[in-house]
This record gives sequence, C-alpha cells and structure tokens, in this order.
Amino acid sequence: MAPSIPRQLSVIGLGYVGLPLAIALARHYTVVGYDLSERRVASLRSGHDWTHEVADADVAASKCRYESKAATMAGSDLFIVAVPTPVHEDSRKPDFGPVIGACEAVGPLLKPGNIVCFESTVYPGATEEICAPILEKMSGLKCGKDFWLGYSPERMNPGDPVHTLANIVKVVAGQTPEVGKVLADVYGKVTKAGVFMARDIATAEAAKVIENAQRDINIAFINEVTQIFNRLGLSIYDVLDAANTKWNFLNFRPGLVGGHCIGVDPYYLADRAIQVGYDPTVVLAGRRTNDGMGAWLAESVSKLLQPKSRVLMLGLTFKENVPDLRNSGVASVIAGLKSAGHTVSVHDAFADRGEAKHEYGIDLLPDLNGTFDAVVAAVAHKPYVEFTPARLAAFMPKGGLVADIKGIWRQHTFAAPLQIWRP
Ligand SMILES: NC(=O)c1ccc[n+]([C@@H]2O[C@H](COP(=O)([O-])OP(=O)(O)OC[C@H]3O[C@@H](n4cnc5c(N)ncnc54)[C@H](O)[C@@H]3O)[C@@H](O)[C@H]2O)c1
Repeated sequence: MAPSIPRQLSVIGLGYVGLPLAIALARHYTVVGYDLSERRVASLRSGHDWTHEVADADVAASKCRYESKAATMAGSDLFIVAVPTPVHEDSRKPDFGPVIGACEAVGPLLKPGNIVCFESTVYPGATEEICAPILEKMSGLKCGKDFWLGYSPERMNPGDPVHTLANIVKVVAGQTPEVGKVLADVYGKVTKAGVFMARDIATAEAAKVIENAQRDINIAFINEVTQIFNRLGLSIYDVLDAANTKWNFLNFRPGLVGGHCIGVDPYYLADRAIQVGYDPTVVLAGRRTNDGMGAWLAESVSKLLQPKSRVLMLGLTFKENVPDLRNSGVASVIAGLKSAGHTVSVHDAFADRGEAKHEYGIDLLPDLNGTFDAVVAAVAHKPYVEFTPARLAAFMPKGGLVADIKGIWRQHTFAAPLQIWRP
C-alpha cells in the first residue's frame, strides 16, 4: 500500500499554528479545520480570529470548514495535528493530553493510505512512541504498513508579520521517503521559502525542540548578566549597545520568557534527556534563571518604592503586540510587587479582559486613567513605546518611579519629580 495523494486534508487544533495553516492549505485542497473548542469554532465561523494571526476577512472568505465534531474529518487523506503541548504546572513534565486527544479523535477515522502529520512541538521520539500506538489501537490499522506518520515543526512567531508560514523554510519528515515526498508537495504549496527534508521524524522533532531551547539559554545568559551588571550600577541596555557592535555578538535581550514555546519546550528536551539517563544541566539552568527573572524585577522595583505604593503595570501578555496571555512572565512581577505590599493596576493594549480574569484573576483597567506612584513598562506594546515623559508624568502628578524594564523609553530624558529605573 502506498500513501494516498491527498485531496481532502484535516487540520486538528485551530490556534496560532493550526488556523493560518488550515487557511493556507484551503487555497489548494478541501480542508476541514477541527477544534474541540466550540467557542473557538463559533468565533471562526463568525469570521473572527481572536489570536489576530489571520485577518478576519480571510477567516470569513476561506473555503476551510470550521468544525467542532471530529466525525466531520471523515474521508480525509492527510491529518495535520497542531494542538498544544504544554507542561504540567507542578512537575513541569510534558503534558501529552492534547496530542493524545487528537490521536484518539483521528484514529477511528483512519483509512488505509492515510498520513498523520504532527506539527506540535514534542521531544525526539514522541510521535512514533506515543502517537503511533494510539492511532493503531483506535484504527485497527498498522502504522508504517496501512497508514504513515509525518512530522513538520512549526516556526511561526506570533505577532511577526515577516516570519509567516509563507515566508519561512518548512522542515518536513516522513516515516518513509514516499511519505516525505507527499508532505513536501503539500507544504511546498503554502511556503515560498522552500521545504527542508529532515533525515527522519526524530531528527525533525529534535531540530524544533533545540531551536527553542537555544533561545531560552541565550536569553538566560543575558538575564544573568543583567542581574550582575545591576549590582555594578550598569544598565544591560547600555552594555548591549556596545557589545552588539561586534560582528559575532549574539543579539539577545533580557526578558520575561513566557508563552507557549520558549519557556516550555526545554522541559520536553530535559524530560527526554532524563529518560535516557542524561542530566540536562545547561537546559534546566536556563529555565531556572528565566523563571526567576520576574521575582528579581519585582524586588528591584519594590526597593525603590515607598511601602504600599500604587503601581501601574503596562502590559500583561507574554510578548509585545499580541493578545497571547499564556505563561506570561509579567504575572510573576505583579505577584512579587503585591506580596511586597503594593497595589498593582494592570493595563494591556491587546489582551482580552475576560481571559486575563480567567487566567490570572486580574481585572484589567478598561482605560488608561488614574493616579499612581510608579509606572512599569512590562511589555513593549506599540502604544506604550510611544509614551513620552509628559504622558507618563500625567499618571504621577506628584512625581514617582518610571520602571522601564523593557528599555522602551531610553531615548527620553526623565527629570524630577520623575525617577527612572531600568535594568
Ligand atoms: N504559537 C506559536 O507561536 C508556536 C510556534 C511554533 C510551534 N508551536 C507549537 O504548535 C503547537 C500548537 O500551538 P498553538 O500556539 O497553535 O496552540 P493554541 O493554544 O493557540 O491552539 C491550539 C488549539 O487546539 C485546540 N485543541 C486542544 N486540544 C485539542 C484536541 N485534542 N483536538 C482538537 N483541538 C484541540 C485548542 O482548543 C486550541 O484552539 C504547540 O505544540 C506549540 O508548541 C507554537
């Protein structure tokens, strides 16, 4: 039996990754977009993508069918899985629940000749060791004989209009060369940048997980030297301006590493390392440093405040100019300031108020009014970057602290009664 040339495709999980892919593929194939969240499907059917990755007009105009019942995927030749791969909150161990759920939804629909391709970030070996047995059990078919596996890691960068699906090289791997060729043809239709065929599925899984672990470790190094230089009375931003003039200095910035990928994927790699008897000291040290950054920033700001100060926190999302609140490092800065006795009011130019309440129990300010003792630039959202000292002074009529933790107001001079602090 040879793999079928796909005519109908299903994309499972219509989030940041799955929706743009489903819509791009629907320009070439019949596509069913399946998400178990009825709320998500209702929103897409009404022509709205709340992740802002796809323009609403494109969501509405797409021929992709948005469905919340798995049975609607029946008859597909290729299933592409793009569900989340989080870690368990306490143990930080990989949570394969969504991937297993996707396999259980796809398995009963599998027919001979089908391919199941995973985009979710996992550790090397996971697709073949965890997914294949579930798909076999649910379908009664044999993996590698009746149906096949593929893997194609996703590199899209939320809120980044340059590095989109169409513009970045897509790594692809198939269980056999024939499967790889089918997948290369499919993905080749939606990327202008080309397809790279990895040696095998585990190699493609490994490549993805180290792309993000490498970023995490590099940011951890900068976060560590930020804290060292702070003790020496130096600003990391001034140091980076100088160091970045060297041709091979790597341009990483200090940061509250959050979101669904960079702060999570290293734990997948670490888990795999431990499974095979290797202690991943570098990978986990990076995680420790980055996870501690929020507490350090809160402590640094708090030291400069009077007891029971009123703090305005600008930004809650995990990165700039996106509404994504998952694993936001800002939450740890807020928690640190609150536990030091301060009152923290939070504004976010992009986040959904209901989601902020649901995720963090935070009531976002509906608008930017009020009087405070400190303003903290926690996320470099564009509207905040444009604030001038006069605009900031309006929040603190009697003076106060401007904590520019993202270094977004470096071009301005702040005069008394405003005090400026940045790492
Ligand atoms: N967001 C990114 O920038 C990014 C970049 C590269 C790789 N990735 C990886 O891609 C994968 C997906 O991430 P995302 O950011 O798109 O996630 P997401 O949270 O935005 O979306 C996932 C969607 O999957 C749905 N879902 C969850 N379990 C399901 C199931 N069993 N069946 C059907 N639908 C299900 C959810 O309702 C949600 O709408 C993850 O493994 C992530 O690590 C994400």
